[in-house]
Amino acid sequence: MDSILVKGNGPLNGAIPIAGAKNACLALMPATLLSEEPLTLTNAPRLSDIRTMTSLLQSLGAEVSSLQDGKVITMSSHGVLNPTADYDIVRKMRASNLVLGPLLARLGHAVVSLPGGCAIGARPMDIHIDALAALGAEIDLRDGYLHAKTQGGLTGAVHEMRFASVGATENFVMAATLAKGTSVLSNAAREPEIVDLVHCLRRMGAEIEGEGTPTITIQGVTALRGATHPVVTDRIELGTYMLAPAICGGEVECLGGRIDLLAAFCEKLDAAGISVTETERGLKVARRNGRVRAVDVVTEPFPGFPTDLQAQMMALLCTAEGTSVLEERIFENRFMHAPELMRMGARIEVHGGHATVTGVERLRGAPVMATDLRASVSLILAGLAAEGETVVSRVYHLDRGYERVEEKLSACGAKIERIKGGA
Ligand code: UD1
Repeated sequence: MDSILVKGNGPLNGAIPIAGAKNACLALMPATLLSEEPLTLTNAPRLSDIRTMTSLLQSLGAEVSSLQDGKVITMSSHGVLNPTADYDIVRKMRASNLVLGPLLARLGHAVVSLPGGCAIGARPMDIHIDALAALGAEIDLRDGYLHAKTQGGLTGAVHEMRFASVGATENFVMAATLAKGTSVLSNAAREPEIVDLVHCLRRMGAEIEGEGTPTITIQGVTALRGATHPVVTDRIELGTYMLAPAICGGEVECLGGRIDLLAAFCEKLDAAGISVTETERGLKVARRNGRVRAVDVVTEPFPGFPTDLQAQMMALLCTAEGTSVLEERIFENRFMHAPELMRMGARIEVHGGHATVTGVERLRGAPVMATDLRASVSLILAGLAAEGETVVSRVYHLDRGYERVEEKLSACGAKIERIKGGA
């Protein structure tokens, strides 16, 4: 297993290109199952999660090829599809559950293993099941698999989700594109990745309104056509790299960055003393004079502060002036990075869903372990600002969601390298 060696260093300066969004791409790829015609995605990120989704779709009978060094993905599901998503692939990544809605809509039945994914909470499937059941699916859980079927296809319906789940919204919307009649989803998730999925589905001929609002209306059609769609910018990768100059000092331009993707996060950066300016190419981020100030953060569904940036924000607040409280409202058990940051000298107390961080002048490098995808990058950020060397082990988590981290950060002057086959 590889590890990453980070040496504390001074300010970072330069430009970092932001990739297409992992979470958007993982929802867009299963959309190929809805159509017999080819779907092409451009601006795709080069990540192990995308390779996992590729294997899953291939196991279902789709043809998937990656072009231009992985930046373009072409898919075709014209042949006979296999309705079973096996545990061996699904366990690697929770987003595998996004094939359930499309398979059900296209084939009228599907068998999908319950997923695994990051170890950040129980992550049940009840909201997905209720949403698809509203469209007429009958779903049972047997032997660790969800067995879903319909009597003569899905039928449009009005449904309100008990919580605005991102994945359940995506499954419902994809399934409803081919259902008979009109579907209305209320308390829908509003994340930019959902808006991106709807834009792609519309290019494929779906009739959908209301994306980005809590009510999405879908008029079912009999078939969807092929399309080419560019994947939206990864707002989580963007926020992560915006934190690099915030933590280390200097000025970094994040190419392709947009404030509307991260408004709540940008407000917190401003309150902490970090300036964010829009440029022609993206967003320029710099720390204002003096130490970062403590800020309180509550994670919420979009447009609130994203849970996927909580760990990285904590890394910033570890050296802020004053005490910050971070409240995690989306996932239980998402403070596993806190004990690792404490090994580097951070002062953090975790009580249930709250973490209280009292800033220290300086962190110290230490051997630490990545516990999940976002935690791993928070340790890299902390290591960049710490005195001495930090070795982050178990970086396979990192490779799920960040392409070429070492390259992107070292281009701005960071001392960071990958140690092949480390602990
Ligand atoms: C997506 C993102 C993930 C992000 C999360 C929240 C992808 C591939 N992943 O995950 O990076 O952290 O949104 O922004 O897009 N829940 C239930 N029952 C369900 C479904 C969810 O109780 O049927 C709970 C989950 O346990 C969690 C919360 O709802 O506590 C949010 O989950 P959800 O919005 O579904 O997240 P994902 O789509 O899995």
